Amino acid sequence: MGAIIWPSPHTFSPARHIDESGKFVYSPKVIPFGIGRRACIGESLARSEIFLMFVGILQRFTITSGYSNLPTISNEHLGLFYGPKPYKVRLEHR
Ligand code: HEM
Repeated sequence: MGAIIWPSPHTFSPARHIDESGKFVYSPKVIPFGIGRRACIGESLARSEIFLMFVGILQRFTITSGYSNLPTISNEHLGLFYGPKPYKVRLEHR
């Protein structure tokens, strides 16, 4: 068995990486773009695009879980990565 990096890895819980003031808590274990010589060459482009897209959406809409509970990550959707089951959210124009 491997070492425990964080508890309940199958639970969708972004809160485990966020402090009380809503800031991301740096961890060397969170490496979405890889590390070292083969690290993602598009990281800075991807970060800017993700920021611009989310800001654009959040400025225009209020998002709530609406129709169903937020998803949990399940083994049924294990492909290259774990992914949540399909779920619905509600977007209302601000
Ligand atoms: C959210 C967006 C993205 C994520 C999460 C991501 C993640 C990754 C990861 C995990 C790797 C493998 C690192 C490794 O082998 O250790 C990688 C490699 C790579 N990514 Fe991305 N990437 C993203 C966006 C992009 C974009 C926008 C581009 C190009 C414009 C890009 C170009 C590449 C290239 C060329 C490699 C291969 C680098 C190499 O092997 O030398 N990626 N990416």
